[in-house]
Amino acid sequence: MTDSQRFFYTSYLEKILVPFPDNRSNFVNFMILPLAMSILITNIKELIQVRDTNVTIVKGSDMKTLPVIKNAYLFIEHDTIVEYGSMDDYQDIDADEVIDATGKVVMPSWCDSHTHIVYAGNRVREFVDRINGLSYEEIANNGGGILNSAEKLQNTSEEELYQQSLKRLNEVIKLGTGTVEIKSGYGLTVDAELKMLRVIKRLKRESLAFIKPTLLGAHAVPKEYSNNKSAYVDLVVNELIPKATEEHLAEYIDVFCEKGYFDLDDTERILKAGVAHGLRPKIHVNQFNAFGGVALGVKYDALSVDHLEEMSKEDIEALKNSNTMPVALPSCSYFLSIPYTPARQMIDAGLPLALATDYNPGSTPSGNMNFVVSTACIKMKMTPEEAINAATINGAYAMGLSNMYGSICRGKKANLIITKEIPNYQFIPYAFGENLIDEVIINGIRLD
Ligand code: NIG
Ligand code: FE
Repeated sequence: MTDSQRFFYTSYLEKILVPFPDNRSNFVNFMILPLAMSILITNIKELIQVRDTNVTIVKGSDMKTLPVIKNAYLFIEHDTIVEYGSMDDYQDIDADEVIDATGKVVMPSWCDSHTHIVYAGNRVREFVDRINGLSYEEIANNGGGILNSAEKLQNTSEEELYQQSLKRLNEVIKLGTGTVEIKSGYGLTVDAELKMLRVIKRLKRESLAFIKPTLLGAHAVPKEYSNNKSAYVDLVVNELIPKATEEHLAEYIDVFCEKGYFDLDDTERILKAGVAHGLRPKIHVNQFNAFGGVALGVKYDALSVDHLEEMSKEDIEALKNSNTMPVALPSCSYFLSIPYTPARQMIDAGLPLALATDYNPGSTPSGNMNFVVSTACIKMKMTPEEAINAATINGAYAMGLSNMYGSICRGKKANLIITKEIPNYQFIPYAFGENLIDEVIINGIRLD
């Protein structure tokens, strides 16, 4: 299948199955029939994360359970999982293509609910500066950090930004990620933020991954506003949010709620404005300091609160009985050598937890969900079952997608990872750093 066929095919499927306010044109009707196909996967050693009913979130001690069918088959038509079961019950199915998965694990694709994959250039110099003793905070205070990325992005054309981002996105798709949330936040002017969001929209249209866009205008205070932060918050509230929503460029509103960035009052103003424009909050909180951002997120019914390297008892209490998914970003903790989110404490308190990459040039220059899952097991003491639940079904929840993605369920989208021959699924986090993926199926399409 050529790239342009792929583009037409996914755009078509997304259009008929998931209506969105953005304007997909009328090219679609002729593409489905020639490309319609079915795939049968047989002799699967372990088919994991199988849910007979459409479970959309897994919490607390339930996270320890990862439903598995051994020696299984799975049947896909077009972009949808139609049937699965044990090979003992298998009866002949006619399929366009058959994959023999002897010795292999089949699972839903990773759902990465927190990324900043659209950025310009890199910050490798800051990486070396940190090795030589500067802290992340010191680098940011010297004009590095997010402001450095913003300057680069402002000086990069929309086309170039798209090409750089597409390359990263294609890499993570090959690593098994099928759904991705992408934030703005390296523009920090109205024009540059809208440029980022348009790039995200184009990726959404032209890539096979299912993408959710988030407006993170309040990622850092631009230099011009360093003595007048509230004027920048005014700009986000009065100009950026209205413009971005008028063009249907975002679904979620994010704020970096952190000391030296945006405080609780700033965050509340921005969340209020976002909600008034139909954006649901998904916010950065508790990366370095815990001062009430989690409860504020819950108050505004945030879909997720992300980072959570510093968690107080009050934060855990605030999340209980809420609809808000806590999201941990272990690659960020690894790269910055900061604490890991206290997953054990949170799950043992009955909370759900999702895992995501935080792919960005400053704190996590990696979009590898396989590494995230390994690191969660190794450093956060999550069991393989908990980590896989967190990186599939709960990740999908944190993007508002768990009705369609994140588990093997009849009627859900056929986004799958087929591993190489491995002893069992626990091997996925165990063999950290090794690429165990043999093949990826995304929207029912086999990637070559
Ligand atoms: O999620 N914490 C805020 N934002 C990003 C890092 C931004 C950067 O350093 O460029 C994060 O880690
Ligand atoms: Fe982030």
